[in-house]
This record gives sequence, C-alpha cells and structure tokens, in this order.
Amino acid sequence: MVTTHAAPRAQVLLASNRGPVSYALKDDGSLEPKRGGGGLVSGLSAIGSDVESVWVCAALGEGDREAVRRGVGEHGVRMLDIDAEVFSDAYNGIANSVLWFVQHMLYQTPLEPVFDAEFRRQWASYEAYNRAFAQALAAEAGDGARVLVQDYHLALVPGMLRELRPDLRIGHFSHTPWAPVDYFRMLPDDIARQLLRGMLGADRLGFLTRRWASAFMASVAGVLPAGEGELFGAAEGESGRCFFRHAPAGSLPARDTDIAVHSLGADGDFLRRRSHEPDVEERMAALREQIGAGRKTIVRVDRTELSKNIVRGLLAYRHLLEEHPEWRERVVHVAFAYPSRQDLAVYREYTEEVARVAADINSSYGTESWTPVVLHVQDDFARSLAAYRLADVALVNPVRDGMNLVAKEVPVVSDAGCVLVLSREAGAYEELGEDALVVNPYDVTGTASALYAALSMGEGERGERTKRLAAAGTALPPRAWFLGQLEALAP
Ligand code: F6P
Repeated sequence: MVTTHAAPRAQVLLASNRGPVSYALKDDGSLEPKRGGGGLVSGLSAIGSDVESVWVCAALGEGDREAVRRGVGEHGVRMLDIDAEVFSDAYNGIANSVLWFVQHMLYQTPLEPVFDAEFRRQWASYEAYNRAFAQALAAEAGDGARVLVQDYHLALVPGMLRELRPDLRIGHFSHTPWAPVDYFRMLPDDIARQLLRGMLGADRLGFLTRRWASAFMASVAGVLPAGEGELFGAAEGESGRCFFRHAPAGSLPARDTDIAVHSLGADGDFLRRRSHEPDVEERMAALREQIGAGRKTIVRVDRTELSKNIVRGLLAYRHLLEEHPEWRERVVHVAFAYPSRQDLAVYREYTEEVARVAADINSSYGTESWTPVVLHVQDDFARSLAAYRLADVALVNPVRDGMNLVAKEVPVVSDAGCVLVLSREAGAYEELGEDALVVNPYDVTGTASALYAALSMGEGERGERTKRLAAAGTALPPRAWFLGQLEALAP
C-alpha cells in the first residue's frame, strides 16, 4: 500500500462507483483492504500495470472515507469522499432503487414506481455525485486523454465532462441491460431525456449485447426530440457502424456518438489456475461432506439480488423434487447467495425470503442423511470456485442480467463437465444459448423440467456441451474487453 494521490494529467482514466479496493475500519482503528467484486471491477482490473491509468471511484463507506482522510490508497486509484447523504441518495436512492429497477424491469405495480418530491430531491444528489466525478476526471486528465466511464451510476458524467473538457475522448459503458423503450419512458420525461443526453455526451457508448444496444437506440428514438440528432445503423443486425449524429446546436458543431457492443467473457487462464489452489481444495472437501457421496449437484452463485431470481430457482428445484421423487436423496442444490445492497429494505426482505424458502424445502423433503438445499450466504470466492468444480448442473436464471459471468465461469472450472440451465434474459444467452438448456425465468415448472433434463443428460453430450460453453465463455476475456474499448477511443 502507498499513499495516494495518483499522478495528475493521466492519459487513460476510468470512472466507476465501486473501485478495485474498499476498506473496512477495524475496531483497533486499522484499515483492512478488500478487493472489489463483480463483472465491472473484474473487467476494469484487467487493465494490468502496463497501461498507466487513474481510476476514479467513490468512497463507499466509513472505512473508505477514513482511508481518504489518512491518504491511504493504491497507486493509480483516486477515491472521492462524497458527502455521505449525497452518496446514499445517489447510490441507494437513484442508481439502485430507480435506474437499476428500470433497466432490469423490476418494478411491481401498484406500488412502484412513484416519482415524487423525494425522488426529485434524490435526483439532485445524483446530479451532484455525477458532477463530483466529472470535476475529478477533468482535473486528472491530460490533454486529449481517454476516459472510460462505467455504468448507470455515472450516466450524466459524459455530458458534464464534455462541457468541462471538450478535448477529451470519452467512453461510457453500460454493464446492465437496457429496458425496452416503453418501460424506460416510465421515468419522468425530463429525467429520461437528461439521462440520454448525459450518456450521449460520450464519443462512444458500449453495451454488453446487441439486444441492449438496440434497446438503447429505441429509447433515443422514442424519447429525444427529433431535432436533436439522428440515429444511423442497427445494433441488432450485422450492418457495421451504429451512431447518433448530434445536430449542430448554437456554437457546437455536429458530432457523432458511436454505439457499440463489447461482450465480456471469463478469464479462463486465471480461473483454471486459481480453482486448483489449496484453499479451494479445502473447501471442496468441506462441501463434499455437506453434499454426501454419490449425489449430483445443482450449483448457483449470485449476489442476493432481485434480478437474479433466486427464489423462483428454489421453487423450480422444489417442483423437481415433488414431480420426480426418484431424485430425492440423489441431488443437492448448492445455493450461494451473497448479501448485497443491504441498505435497501427490499434487498433485506429478499435475502430473508431466500433463506425462508430454502429452509422450507429442507424441512419438507430433508431426511436425517440428506439436506436438499445447502445455502451459504457468507461471500467466499474460494468456496464459489469449489462449488463450480463440483457442479453437475449450473443454474443461472435471472429475470434480466447485463451479461452474467457465472454462466461463463462454471463450464471452465467444473471437474466433470456441467450442464448450464440458462435464462434467455441473461446477456450471456446471446453467446451460450445454443449449448445451454434455455429457460423462461418466470416459468417455474419449465425451469424444473430443464433441471430434470440437465440431471438426466448423458455424459457424452454433457462433456461436448461443456467444452463448447467453456470455449465461448472465454473467447473475450476481460483484457480484450477493456483494450477493445480503449483502442476504439483512440483519436
Ligand atoms: O452493473 C452491474 C454491476 O456493476 C456489476 O458489475 C456488479 O456485479 C454489480 O453491479 C455490483 O453492484 P454493487 O456495486 O451495488 O454491489
């Protein structure tokens, strides 16, 4: 660890809410660093030390704020100490309770959404939080530098940054899905327009799949007044370049924003190596004890996230046990559901519901020698890899997901090959759909049938599918994802 602050006037800058490291403040006053997780952080971390860069991120909690105060940090990381209330409004209030819900289509009527005075107050914080990032980036960036802004937390940054520093090359990448236009326009008109204009401040917008890119284009077409510019190309087709040509406005000349697809895959080399280290072997032994000899394993690993659809996955497993009693005692569902966004009541309630449904299955079907669901909620990467290695079936059934790297990781790591049961609503479906057993995530009995087919599949077919899934899932490792965007932003 070294003291920040990173060298000013960088040529490559990254910006994301969550950074590569976060600090816990211990009782003895010391700071314990913890690596950030999730697809976004894994993708950006692939930058490697050969590209000199500055990564601007938010201080997420008291530990991070204390680290900023003490000047503790990693080389090349600039953590922003944003006022705690502004941060909470922006992150919990707007980004995770509104924008995440819109892009994942998670609202449930009649109660939500409600865009009231409180929403407007929080929106002002979201603007302030975006402005803090734009100002920090403007201060750090060298002449003509390339800036890669990440995700829905920072949708306004490209526009704000362009005003401050028109010389920069600005990219924005969405790690989430993009909602169909009729869902997106649930947002108040002025807010929907502000979001799109903020993103279109970039020179290039990146999406994980063609589907999300073309949904974005439909939102632009449906929400922005015609006079603001024109869309060219079609993200869904093979027709080459897609872009939005901004109409000249006042002293601003016409310019283009490219709309591009950069898929993100698993890091095969890293996973193969890491999953054979001693801590993983140790956890495999412990899991084998819990599963019991000779049983098949259905594995899922997720943040406890509404969009991941964990409860319907459990209900599908329950239906399988009910309809196919011959599988009782012969299969175990290993479900890792790691707590996430626990500041939000709806996430806390969902976490409780997952535990309740799992316990209910165990009390309905369990026996002295068989626990049908092994649920773990303590985040442990080595144990996740151990479960991947033991998986006969991987269950990935989100109601919507930007990509889902678990779907790409398990086939690489599983020892005996595994069948992937995959939601057609995960971004990974575009690349893995042919070799997975594809499900409609709302269809519990359909998912149960897919689990049954997966458990019953012969070894030959399973092995062939696993090989193809592993090849497709590692074809675009994080470093290629990152460098592809960086190169595309070159002047
Ligand atoms: O946009 C998706 C994403 O940033 C993922 O990369 C990550 O898994 C998740 O959201 C993390 O959410 P949070 O930072 O709120 O824990």
